Amino acid sequence: MLTQAEHDLCAVRSNQIDYSRILSLHYLGNYTRELPVNMTRMMENAYDWEHLPFIHESSFSSISLIASGKWGWRARIGIPGGGIQLLDLIIDLSENYWVSTVISGPGEGTEIHTKATNVSNETIEVDVRFYLPEAPADQSAQEFVLKYLQDQYRRLYDEDQDLMSGRQEALDTKAKLQKITDKPEIQLVGNLAALSKDASHITRLGKQRYAVRFHQGAWIAHGTTCPHMLGPLQDSVIDASGTVTCPWHGYRFDIESGDNLDGKCASLGLAPTVFEDDGQLFLKA
Ligand code: FES
Ligand SMILES: [Fe+2]
Repeated sequence: MLTQAEHDLCAVRSNQIDYSRILSLHYLGNYTRELPVNMTRMMENAYDWEHLPFIHESSFSSISLIASGKWGWRARIGIPGGGIQLLDLIIDLSENYWVSTVISGPGEGTEIHTKATNVSNETIEVDVRFYLPEAPADQSAQEFVLKYLQDQYRRLYDEDQDLMSGRQEALDTKAKLQKITDKPEIQLVGNLAALSKDASHITRLGKQRYAVRFHQGAWIAHGTTCPHMLGPLQDSVIDASGTVTCPWHGYRFDIESGDNLDGKCASLGLAPTVFEDDGQLFLKA
């Protein structure tokens, strides 16, 4: 729930970028970087408010959405160590340009303008420009703040690069799996003596891939791919109640039924049966 003051602040925000705004702000400097991802992944990432506290744990401790649309999103954000910010990220999709603004809280009035440009089909460059409501007190304060922001954005893009590349890989894998036509009833996982009980053994059965793992004294299987945006589930810890949590946006799944426990996305589906025979482990559809 928003406080009345937060509600009032949000009510006067525009959902369109006002490009002339930067004329009244202090330009601090920028951070540029090439990324080995395509523009679709980059823009999808800009819209994806939900990944912030999961992929960027050191910059965001929580997020609750206030509003979102084709224009971008507005949210209340928790800062690690304490503090709350109201933030919005307004997107101009036709220009591959977005602006995030600290509406209130620490750093209030700071605007980060990002322009993404195609370098090739699978490479883009981002130019991230930092604007402050007022110039820092002196040159050394200016350098300090700029370095802080550049370091933060280097880390944010390291983390986003992993997410975007991981998602592209998952989409490519999904497309390949869709073309598979064999429908085996049974699939060998491996020799029991050679299967580590501490590892996740990814095994394909028809079009699906499963993580075969040893949990609470038994071998079990669950889907490797989160139905939300294809996040990887195979290495997520299974907690005592049999729940796996996706590392990308934190959606939780019951490994037995496959159900999404948050009611936010589709079920993982029922996993195949795992059985042992003559020292070997198998999946059965
Ligand atoms: S990909 Fe979003 S929660 Fe799994
Ligand atoms: Fe991100």
